[in-house]
Amino acid sequence: MLLDVLVLAAGKGTRMRSALPKVLHNLAGKPLLGHVFESVADLDGAAINVIVGHGRDKIQQTFVDQGLNWIEQSSQLGTAHAVQQAIPYLRDGAKVLIVYGDVPLIKSSTLGKMLAQVGDDAMSLLTVELVDPSGYGRIVRNTEGEVTGIIEQKDAAPEQLLIGEVNTGVMAMTAADLKAWLPKINNDNAQQEYYLTDLISLARTAGRHINTYVPEAVEEVEGVNSRAQLVALERYYQRQIANTLLDNGVTIIDPSRFDCRGELQTGQDVLIDINCIFEGHNKLGNGVLIGPNCVIKDATIGDNVTIKANTVIEGPVTLEEDVQVGPFARLRPHSVLDRGAKVGNFVETKKAKIGPGSKISHLSYVGDAVLGSEVNVGAGTITCNYDGVNKHLTEIDDGAFIGSNTSLVAPVSVGKNATVGAGSTISRDVPANSLAIARGKQRSLDTWKRPEKK
Ligand code: UD1
Ligand code: CA
Repeated sequence: MLLDVLVLAAGKGTRMRSALPKVLHNLAGKPLLGHVFESVADLDGAAINVIVGHGRDKIQQTFVDQGLNWIEQSSQLGTAHAVQQAIPYLRDGAKVLIVYGDVPLIKSSTLGKMLAQVGDDAMSLLTVELVDPSGYGRIVRNTEGEVTGIIEQKDAAPEQLLIGEVNTGVMAMTAADLKAWLPKINNDNAQQEYYLTDLISLARTAGRHINTYVPEAVEEVEGVNSRAQLVALERYYQRQIANTLLDNGVTIIDPSRFDCRGELQTGQDVLIDINCIFEGHNKLGNGVLIGPNCVIKDATIGDNVTIKANTVIEGPVTLEEDVQVGPFARLRPHSVLDRGAKVGNFVETKKAKIGPGSKISHLSYVGDAVLGSEVNVGAGTITCNYDGVNKHLTEIDDGAFIGSNTSLVAPVSVGKNATVGAGSTISRDVPANSLAIARGKQRSLDTWKRPEKK
């Protein structure tokens, strides 16, 4: 099947009161338009055409190299005028699907069902019954229940305003029908706009059957016009993700205080405490416990890992089985903690491989470092990895013990089972099994007297 999708995204989005084009506002960490593209990309044989006007440069820059056909609508004269701009790009024999760039949660399964209703003798319209239909175009049916037209709110007679079934804006028909009907639409209405909704009565006149389809959830067809609507849809969407995770056996202590902005794969018996944010691609093994207020991005987390409160992970980060992190830890890109390793409070790691069973329990910075197994890094240890121009490596071999408040001036290495005395500034390699101390000698002056108050 040839399918030409038209995504309408030329409108201004005035009510967002934003410098950012409306369709670029994020929902679950992804632009509204990106959600729409994902839904339509799942459809068989889809060529995606995007009609842009306001903020088109920014929009196009956001979605480069995605095989999209950009069509400009320089002045916004109405939804039919927007579709008109795409006519030269429609392929013979194709079906056409029209969706809105500011309606992010439309499901591809819904669109698939609509497309199945389209043929040479029929088009399809996505409608929904609303308790408060104000603002929407109303679906007009005859006594047989057949759709005969759509009447916009501003053009509707009082009795038509009582109709609860509304036009979602999503519709589908053959390219041949669309090409035949569009030129017949004028702007002779209350808003002096070219209404795409006028297509329905034209279809009717041409003897087409107008099939309607109703989405499973009304949120699928809710548009974003204001920030209030955006955050309401965000909460709905997050609740859906949380529900799926709960169904999969994850405990989310409070689903209303949970946010996933990306993909989250989970094993069995995972527990996620309140206020956690997951960004990008995260994978959690079995028995993973995540304390409150953690922000976790692009992490691969093995079985039985515990992440305590207020930990920030900025991946790519890998945590092997039985690792413990936090509270208040910050793991930056390319931190790899091997099995059973432990990183405690106020520790920052970056480009660091921490070997199995090694511990950095308190107040340290470990960057550009490779630690072997069973290394103990004392409180306040700093890898001085940066000389102001280049980054250098610190290597600490198996079983080494780094005393508290040590500065390791890279490039430097500490040998197997070596010990570094507390407070040392280590700028030369430490041989295996040795003790290195590099600090001022302690002296006690017995002639010294405390100053007295004058
Ligand atoms: C439209 C429908 C209405 C329906 C409602 C659902 C028409 C005439 N009315 O009304 O029946 O209930 O959507 O939300 O179609 N756009 C352009 N170029 C334009 C005008 C609009 O690209 O010249 C885009 C907008 O960016 C938006 C979409 O089309 O994504 C809908 O436009 P909008 O002005 O919001 O339509 P409504 O008046 O809400
Ligand atoms: Ca509008």
